[in-house]
Amino acid sequence: MCGIVGYIGGQQAAPILLDGLSKLEYRGYDSAGIAVYNGEKIQMVKSTGKLKALEELTQGGAVLPGFSGIGHTRWATHGSPTDVNAHPHFNKDCSITVVHNGIIENYLKLRKKLEGKGYQFVSETDTEVLAHLLDYYYNGNPLEAIVKVLYRVEGSYALGILFKDFPEEIYAVRKDSPLIVGQGKEGNFIASDVPAILKYTRDVYFIENQEIVKLTRDSLNFYNIDEEEVQKESTRIEWDMSAAEKAGYEFFMLKEIYEQPKAVADTLYPRLKDDGIVIEELGMTEEEIRNIGKIYIVACGSAYHTGVTAKYVFEGLARIPVEVDLASEFRYRDPIFQPNTLVIVVSQSGETADTLAALREAKSRGVRTLGIVNVVGSSIAREADNVMYTWAGPEIAVATTKAYSTQLIAEYLLAIYFAKVRNEIDSRQFEDMLHDLKKLPDQIEFLLGGKEKLQHFANRYLATEHVFFIGRGIDYAISMEGSLKLKEISYIHSEAYAAGELKHGTISLIEENTLVVALVTQKDLYKKMLSNIQEVRTRGAFVMAVATAGNTEVEKSADYVVYLPETNPYFANSLAVIPLQIFGYYVSLGKGLDVDKPRNLAKSVTVE
Ligand code: G6P
Repeated sequence: MCGIVGYIGGQQAAPILLDGLSKLEYRGYDSAGIAVYNGEKIQMVKSTGKLKALEELTQGGAVLPGFSGIGHTRWATHGSPTDVNAHPHFNKDCSITVVHNGIIENYLKLRKKLEGKGYQFVSETDTEVLAHLLDYYYNGNPLEAIVKVLYRVEGSYALGILFKDFPEEIYAVRKDSPLIVGQGKEGNFIASDVPAILKYTRDVYFIENQEIVKLTRDSLNFYNIDEEEVQKESTRIEWDMSAAEKAGYEFFMLKEIYEQPKAVADTLYPRLKDDGIVIEELGMTEEEIRNIGKIYIVACGSAYHTGVTAKYVFEGLARIPVEVDLASEFRYRDPIFQPNTLVIVVSQSGETADTLAALREAKSRGVRTLGIVNVVGSSIAREADNVMYTWAGPEIAVATTKAYSTQLIAEYLLAIYFAKVRNEIDSRQFEDMLHDLKKLPDQIEFLLGGKEKLQHFANRYLATEHVFFIGRGIDYAISMEGSLKLKEISYIHSEAYAAGELKHGTISLIEENTLVVALVTQKDLYKKMLSNIQEVRTRGAFVMAVATAGNTEVEKSADYVVYLPETNPYFANSLAVIPLQIFGYYVSLGKGLDVDKPRNLAKSVTVE
């Protein structure tokens, strides 16, 4: 979703802003703009479409000279993607300009009030309210005006603000939308995410809710909402820019698919110590683990799909009842928390608005929370009682692959560890599982070797309109992710169905040559799945099966089979998802689509 960059320092601001915004493109956007103080006034250029248009309009930033500025990529919410609705937004005499990520929920009320006082609005956005409201409260003291605005607005925001009267300063503030501050040698930065500024600095500050920052060329001051100065510690970013660059791959998604063996190993191995599982960051005693009465897994999108898999693993191994919830539903459904409930929230970005709100809901009800998070220092990572990091590294493609795979690993580790502590599995089972877990990185590597065949197969389905993914148990959870992967990047309608449920309506959609992808990794459900494959095949479907090596009987029922190396059935998702990711990728590529930035989607969904 919207991306923010700001710079103040010794270099020309506009090229830095454009460069920073290009590193935030992955977040999803449909227009962009920058504003720079040129020594006399604030100049602004905005454009719909890709950043390239803005780069051309500004001649790479040359037409906007100056040493302080703010920039923005907008993912439209209030008002269509037009030049006028693009950020930054000005107050009436162009002396205050604002970029915003988030949603001002009471903007209509505020707009009415301001219109009543003679303010004229040029855009349909909620953000413009902020520019006029700042103007309304501004009395020569930027900090004071910002604080007054904060007391009036409801909703979520990360803001970058430039006052013409104070060209040597940039202000920033956030609530429930991500924002970091970077401290460089020759200037300071604000950004929605680390890649935007990593080229210039590794020292970043994570801003807390309603903390205000004043940046000058060589100083940073942080204030709370009472305008009192607060002291903050910076964090050193350890990962490299190369991790956030394409490294010769045509798309980030393929690069990230290929990074999975390493990401899985990096998440797994540090937690395997002395023939056991050690999850130091869990912060729970064995007694507390034995006492867990119920687990909620709460997440959005693909992270939710890992939760659906994890439910089978936790219940099957640790015998703890699990409910899996979409965060957007959980937060409003008033869940009944029993004593000794653990809420696990799963999130790559650690900033997904609904997941964050669900976490806060659980915390406010006194329930213990654990975050499984990829982005270090993100809101969920900071607010959960404990955080278990997935070590996938930066994920840029909107469609998640390596973060998904590492989330699964974190959940397996927890489930096995809980099972061991609760004496639900014996030492032999425990050792066998660790043995199988350790093999996963190599097995994923092996599956990546099958990409040409899958590309060939994918090319046959570029014009198809509907695809169905079916499975039972964990295979149903895998189907959900396979279906999402295909539809989000190829724009082909697809659905995941519990295989046994298909005949209660949906099977009427199967016709000659409809592609049905059948997941057949679960031994206990193998025979049942073969019957379900027959059901769709006799109605004309073309069936691609994903099955475990050795189960050749499936070839009698399916038209095309992808075999997976053998593993514990609980871990099958980690292998089965690989060909499904590759299939989705190549359908999207074959259709000539922008694989990394599918239309209408955002990587980090910071509005509810
Ligand atoms: C977006 C992304 C998905 C992701 C979901 C949840 O929709 O495109 O790939 O699964 O958000 O994001 P999170 O960062 O919380 O895992």
